[in-house]
Amino acid sequence: MRPLLIVLALSLAAAAAAASASASGARPVIRTVTDIPAAVSSGAAADALFCDSWRLSVETANAGPWKFIPARCAAFVGDYIEGPRYASDSAVAAADSLAFASGALAAAEVGAAKPAWVFDVDETLLSNAPYYAVNGWGSQEFNETSFDEWVDAAKAPALPSSLKLYNELQALGFHVILLTGRTEFQRNSTEANLLFAGYRSWEKLILRQPSDIGKTAVKYKSERRAAMEAEGFKILGNSGDQWSDLLGSPMATRSFKLPNPMYFIS
Ligand SMILES: *[C@@H]1O[C@H](CO)[C@@H](O)[C@H](O)[C@H]1NC(C)=O
Ligand SMILES: *[C@@H]1O[C@H](CO)[C@@H](O)[C@H](O)[C@H]1NC(C)=O
Repeated sequence: MRPLLIVLALSLAAAAAAASASASGARPVIRTVTDIPAAVSSGAAADALFCDSWRLSVETANAGPWKFIPARCAAFVGDYIEGPRYASDSAVAAADSLAFASGALAAAEVGAAKPAWVFDVDETLLSNAPYYAVNGWGSQEFNETSFDEWVDAAKAPALPSSLKLYNELQALGFHVILLTGRTEFQRNSTEANLLFAGYRSWEKLILRQPSDIGKTAVKYKSERRAAMEAEGFKILGNSGDQWSDLLGSPMATRSFKLPNPMYFIS
């Protein structure tokens, strides 16, 4: 009896294995999602994990309005901006922008209108990283006096991938319009800075007028996009580091959100 039982058990096991092997191609493998391991519940690893998730939260606007970066993330934000990740994130956004731009022109979405691309200035064409590097990377209260001094110095470098995209869009025939929250008083220093950074020409540079003071960026920038459309521009693309550069009506055909974990503008 005993040898017979063993043979029976072995053949049943073999049949079961064969059945499961033949079914594995058709049935999904059930996996659980890994939870945060206990090993990263505190210390530097926990800060790195949290700050990376916080960055996703602010980029997606899940975080809503925010005033300062979390104090535990100052080093993380500095490493992000100065390391290869910021450059890479920006380069992928620029490549996606260019892929859309060439297709949009080819698809003749424009008709008789003048194809236009709107760029924000700060953290889009120009990088204020040298200022934020010595001001806590956004962990300190915004100091308008010292920031205005930095703007007047007109020494902000270009974001390399934005400068490349800017030139590529102009070569394709786009009218490039700069729309910034900076004020009219900063026109000279802004133009000087753009030239210093390598931007050679633009259709127009729109700055906040006295009548725009106090408006949210969404309202101010939407009004200016409406004026562009009234002037015969078709805004195919819009690049900005803030959702308030991009949202509101009218909106560009496609909007491109550049990274900025240093500050939020509503
Ligand atoms: C803001 O910046 C100005 C100019 O650099 C400086 O004199 C002032 O102390 C700063 N204010 C604060 C609160 O740090
Ligand atoms: C800007 O520059 C022009 C000429 O280059 C000058 O006439 C004007 O006063 C300057 N404006 C400011 C606010 O500095």
